[in-house]
Formats: sequence, C-alpha cells, structure tokens
Amino acid sequence: MRKPLVAGNWKMHGSRAENANLVQTLLDLLKPEWSAEVMVCPPFVYLWETGRMLKDTDVALGAQSICAEAVGAFTGEVSGAMLRDVGCGYVLVGHSERRQLYGETDALVARKFVAAQAQGLLPVLCVGETLEEREAGRTTEVVARQLEAVLAVSGVGALAKAVIAYEPVWAIGTGRTASPEQAQDVHAMIRAKVAALDATIAASVRILYGGSVKASNARELFAMADIDGGLVGGASLKAEEFAQICAAAG
Ligand code: 13P
Repeated sequence: MRKPLVAGNWKMHGSRAENANLVQTLLDLLKPEWSAEVMVCPPFVYLWETGRMLKDTDVALGAQSICAEAVGAFTGEVSGAMLRDVGCGYVLVGHSERRQLYGETDALVARKFVAAQAQGLLPVLCVGETLEEREAGRTTEVVARQLEAVLAVSGVGALAKAVIAYEPVWAIGTGRTASPEQAQDVHAMIRAKVAALDATIAASVRILYGGSVKASNARELFAMADIDGGLVGGASLKAEEFAQICAAAG
C-alpha cells in the first residue's frame, strides 16, 4: 500500500508571522488518526523556523527548489546540503513555474533531481502539460519526455526514493481542476511507463496530483486508483482547508 502524501506548496506567499501562524494552526488541526503523510514547502527564508516548529511532529518539511550544484559561486542559489541542514526531507524539482518562468529545462531538472538525492532529500518531480499541449493531443508525449529526462540520468531505481507530481499547467491557480478521470488517465500512463522498466517500483512510487486541489474536490481525486495524494498551492495557505484536504486523503 502506498501511504498518501499531501504537500502544501506555499510558493512566494506569507511573512514570518503569517507562516508561523499557518504552521501552528495546521499542527493544531491535524489528527493522528489520519493516514496521509503531510508536508509543507514554505519559501526558503522560512524553512529554518518552520523546521523548528515541525520538530517532534510527523509533518515533513520540503523546499520549493534546489541548486543543481553542490557548492560554490552560484549567487542566489541554495544547495541540497543547506536544505538538509535546515531540516528538509523533500524538495520540489521541475515545478511548472520554474520551467516556464525561470527557463528550467528537462536537463536542468534532471540535474536537480540528482543533486537532491545526493544529499538524501526526496525529490518531488513535477511534470505536466500546458493547455496548448493538451489541446494538441500531446499530453502523453510531454509528460513522458519530462519523466524520461530524469530516468535517463538517474535510472528507474532512483524512483524508489522520489515522488512524482502530475500538475497540468492549465489547472494550476486557475480554479480549473482536472477531472478525476483526466488526472487518473495521466497517472496511469506515468505508472505504466515506470512499470515497463520496473514493476515493483511502479507499484510503490507515489504519484501526486496538483492543480486547483480544494477541500471540495480532494476526496474524488484521491479516490482514483493511481492518485496517491496532492500537491496543493492556493488551498494550502488556509490551514482549515488544507487540513480538510489532508483528511480527504485517508
Ligand atoms: P494551485 O493548487 O494553487 O492550483 O497550485 C498547484 C501547484 O502548483 C502546487 O505546486
């Protein structure tokens, strides 16, 4: 059985006080009997403080990005070792905002995936097509290309220590969620691609759905056979709603 994972990606929101308040309210709302693993990804500058608040809890800490390089003259970047140092267990790689707004290529995303695992971080590899690509019938091709770019460098075995997140770009921040069936189709395709290389890893790798997940649609999305939780943006900024989404994962 795959343990569901619900991750909150706060993107570039909040202040020290707001983030601390969000973490504390969330900790107060989460119930030990809920089965999903919960993770939060605050902005870099709040990781340390958040990590301290999460110490001795079951809530995991993740970063939103990582430098592909280990150390050196890379102004503005944050290394995997630094993320470990402040308590991260996970890191997002290849989020569509990084790909689209900051020019991250498949090759760079693959290097970031490797850099994360080199430091013992679990990368959450984000993949997903744009609206234009979907309408052109290219969803499978695009998602497979993004996945294969990482597999070519890391090998399928690396997925034993990683998470995949399918985030259709057209569903991110738009309020337009993929239907459970649309999401399931892509998740099943991803799992089949992995299964063609290693059936055991395919059966165990968690594939999250992201894109306008809300308390009102989480349950039906998470009920799909190949959806193992969610990567939640906007709704993770509201502790009550995010907690409801965590509850919906089981
Ligand atoms: P929204 O939930 O705001 O659509 O964002 C999804 C996302 O990008 C999470 O990484």
